[in-house]
Amino acid sequence: MKPNALLIAASCCLLATAVHAADPAKGGELVVEARCESCHADKLGGDGSQIYLRKDRRVNTLAQLATQVSVCNSQLNTGWFPEDEAHVAAYLNQRYYKFR
Ligand code: HEC
Repeated sequence: MKPNALLIAASCCLLATAVHAADPAKGGELVVEARCESCHADKLGGDGSQIYLRKDRRVNTLAQLATQVSVCNSQLNTGWFPEDEAHVAAYLNQRYYKFR
């Protein structure tokens, strides 16, 4: 295996583990505070949650979910810690994605 592939594999499972250990209720509060849905609603209409439920959604694993939360968060200047991103991923997983 190339060193890169190893790194990606490691970051995948660390992320997923962090999400499993995180607090979805806290994540729900953070999503509201950061106004994540206002941008998603601009793009897709409705209340913004459609972005998680659309047929051609990007996110298909827990690790991808954690990564996408991080990507979107970096556009916002929230000052979140990695644990906060994990809380948010846990919230979105519980409410919409339902990955195991
Ligand atoms: C500046 C606009 C913007 C903000 C703010 C934003 N997002 Fe996003 N988000 C997007 C766009 C655009 C996409 C779709 C990306 C694509 O389809 O390539 C997306 C997609 C996502 C997805 C993946 C949806 C799928 O297809 O499964 C998640 C999860 C997500 N955002 C979480 C968040 C969270 C959490 C926050 C708040 C911290 C946030 N986003 C804030 C623009 C934004």
